Amino acid sequence: MSKTAFVRPEQRPCWQTLQRLANDTLPDLEQLLRPSSRAKPWCFDAAGITLDISRQRVNEEVFQTLLQLAHESGVAESVQAMFSGDPINTTERRPALHVALRGSTKVDPPWGTDIAEVVQAELKRFLAFAEQVRAGQWLGATGKPITDVVNLGIGGSDLGPRMVVRAMRISGLAQPVRVHFVSNADALALQGVLQTLHPERTGFIIQSKSFTTPETMLLAQSARRWLSDAGLDASHSGRQLVAVTAQAPLAAALGIPPEQTFHFWDWVGGRYSVWSAIGLPVAIAMGGQAFTEFLAGAHDMDEHARTAAPALNLPVIMALMGVWNGNFLGATNLNIAPYAYALAGFVPYLQQLEMESNGKSTHVDGSPVQVQTAPLIWGGLGIEAQHAYFQLIHQGAVMVPMDFIGVRKTQSDLPLAMEHHQMVLQNMQAQAQALAVGRDHEQTLQALRLEGLSEAEVQRLTPFRIYPGNNPSSMIWLDALTPRTLGALMAMYEHKVFVQSVIWGINPFDQWGVELGKTLLSQMKAAPPLA
Ligand code: F6P
Repeated sequence: MSKTAFVRPEQRPCWQTLQRLANDTLPDLEQLLRPSSRAKPWCFDAAGITLDISRQRVNEEVFQTLLQLAHESGVAESVQAMFSGDPINTTERRPALHVALRGSTKVDPPWGTDIAEVVQAELKRFLAFAEQVRAGQWLGATGKPITDVVNLGIGGSDLGPRMVVRAMRISGLAQPVRVHFVSNADALALQGVLQTLHPERTGFIIQSKSFTTPETMLLAQSARRWLSDAGLDASHSGRQLVAVTAQAPLAAALGIPPEQTFHFWDWVGGRYSVWSAIGLPVAIAMGGQAFTEFLAGAHDMDEHARTAAPALNLPVIMALMGVWNGNFLGATNLNIAPYAYALAGFVPYLQQLEMESNGKSTHVDGSPVQVQTAPLIWGGLGIEAQHAYFQLIHQGAVMVPMDFIGVRKTQSDLPLAMEHHQMVLQNMQAQAQALAVGRDHEQTLQALRLEGLSEAEVQRLTPFRIYPGNNPSSMIWLDALTPRTLGALMAMYEHKVFVQSVIWGINPFDQWGVELGKTLLSQMKAAPPLA
């Protein structure tokens, strides 16, 4: 964080200018999208990703003032502080160095060679283990190769790896070992997976930074019980358990062999941990080489975030669009609509990333926040969403800014793959355009007349068939969905979240809000059972 005295966001001169600009009559999107309206194309490229903000309600003056807000808020200095390993997680007095996990081979890294060395050593360890598993060399208690791996973990120890494994499987990356995920403590979640598996050939990865999360510990206990109930000797069944944690002694206490315990560090937040050994299920599913590419994609984006001028910097621009929509145009939510079937897990992953990071109402100096911080993040696959809740986005009473995510190349080899791909992408473009320009009273009258309705019907139906439009959205294009571009996409959102936290003056790396419920749970567990 910037070392100068803390200034609340609403006290910054630019904040007030932006408020005035939002209150003045802003041109609506229909006007902004006319070719004569804007001097330059509103598309920005980095790391195999294009960000198109032409459908944001931003003109040149607003854009420049938002950039000035980023400058006044010390965004550039804060980004450098993060990369340098400053203790920017102030409440927990530690750095947030997930960027070091994907740049560990960088010469002279800003986070220092000591960190780079430990990261590199652990990366080698878990990638070597992943390759053994893929080669059928992880042997269970009876000497049979492990063919199915079950990831037991929740939150950051589940959502990132689960999303990436699915994305890469659907995109066609060969996965010789089946990887499953169980996060819910409901017994049926575990049972549903176990009933399809063979105890002698199933390995479990217990993923938990703290190694105290009760849901995960109960799943681990149940998994062990399943192995022993199948007659596997307890002294050998430990071979079928792997731990990934920042608390190795707790894994040892559970009988997990040290050679099957992989480490990460307290300076990696749970929701930023897929790049660490928490990515082990990803490495098992897609292999060490693809995992290295995944890290490289994130590193490409890190370098862009760290060095590109704010006016060209994708995470900065995304962050500013969110600040504009939320703090000045009054949006309380952000809908994410991936038009790529492989990205079905992206929204749950992003919900934790954005809302656990920036769902805060205390500034870094301890004073209460007076402005809106993280929006509600919601959404899901675009095509299905159109036939479910897009009605509300088109004609409901709330403004729903959107991120449309599209992939330029299809990876399908079905004979009609191109037709499918075109259908998906044309839908995405049609929705973004409809939301932006809408259809006014006059256009609706004309459209209904063209449908051949009687004049009475035209007049009766017109109020229901008007589209207000003017709904802001960004389009995010990936050239193709590969480990590298997926890594870049995820890192782009991570940096966006960080930039917003700097502007709002909050700490994105703690999560005290989840603690009270945990405390009450442990008190309930300690109390005598209810009658
Ligand atoms: O309760 C929230 C949380 O602490 C998240 O921040 C974290 O990703 C998740 O629980 C799981 O924590 P752990 O990896 O320590 O089991």
